[in-house]
Amino acid sequence: MYNSMKLPNSKTISIPVVQELGAKDPDALPQRYIRGKQASITTVSNHSNSIPMIDMALLSINHECRQQVMEKLAFACQEWGFFQVVNHGIPVSLLEQMKEAVRGFFQLPLEEKLKYGIQEREGYGQAFVVSEEQKLDWSDMFYLITLPEDIRNMDFWPTRPVNFRGTVKEYGMETQKLAHKLLSLIAETLGLKGESFINPGGQWMQGTRMNYYPRCPRPDLVLGIGPHSDATDITILLQDDDEIGLHIRKDEEWVPVQPIPGALVINIGDMIEVMSNGKYKSIEHFAVPNSKRERISIAALGLPTKEVQIGPHPQLLDDTHPPLFTTFIRGDFDKNFFQNRLEG
Ligand code: OGA
Ligand code: NI
Repeated sequence: MYNSMKLPNSKTISIPVVQELGAKDPDALPQRYIRGKQASITTVSNHSNSIPMIDMALLSINHECRQQVMEKLAFACQEWGFFQVVNHGIPVSLLEQMKEAVRGFFQLPLEEKLKYGIQEREGYGQAFVVSEEQKLDWSDMFYLITLPEDIRNMDFWPTRPVNFRGTVKEYGMETQKLAHKLLSLIAETLGLKGESFINPGGQWMQGTRMNYYPRCPRPDLVLGIGPHSDATDITILLQDDDEIGLHIRKDEEWVPVQPIPGALVINIGDMIEVMSNGKYKSIEHFAVPNSKRERISIAALGLPTKEVQIGPHPQLLDDTHPPLFTTFIRGDFDKNFFQNRLEG
């Protein structure tokens, strides 16, 4: 069972639907998914559990508590690029409802899902496919532009499961609130005005990537999503609680992120790395499937709109802190960006 998609060079190719591979023969593992040596990056370290945890309830207790949280946040952004949040204000019932709505979508018959097949970047398909020869990820995904409302393309929004649209809209609003709160706290840790990173001269938008990692007979040989950093300002990740999937780079190691029920995983994306002039890092990460059951994760990807100019914030620059990045138009940002990164 195949899905068709367009490569960056405009050629249309067919890509297997991973969920269907598993459904046909649960123990089959086509060669195109076997990573060989690369899979050894799943070697884990003893850093487990040490990604910083931010309890947002402590922000409103008293000044001293707030200071401590802000210091921890600055540390997390600088040393890890990743942290988890609890007491983030999004009801746990909505997190569960969101995961169920997404699970419900992936459980639809293939013909139904293919009605929302990927075009450009939006829709149901496989992420990060750029060539016909490359190794493939052990995952299917469904990507929607969720905010602002007026750029949603409702043709991609499934009508089933019945509560899908309502849930995704509500989850989008709630994650927007949280993203803005975090962006403003992060700006504050750098001595900047709260809104500095939210609307640097444009609108804020959100894409939602729903990832489905089918159960895999040999998770040690494949990757669910290969190593990448997110081209976002920040990403809010909601994941299944029962198995570890996400791994992040910490110094020279890959650290597994232990899911915590009710918590959300936050990571600094490329835009904040640039706007903070490299002080805060957009960290590489990857995900693995597991052999017991499918895994679902939902990444709420925050971004300034396409026309916005992104560059190091002027207040962070002086004679001893020259810009480490050239300023660019957000819409021109692509995979080659880091090759053009200025030295230093
Ligand atoms: C992503 C991502 C990780 C995961 O969607 O960008 O990194 O655990 N997902 O699914
Ligand atoms: Ni990611």
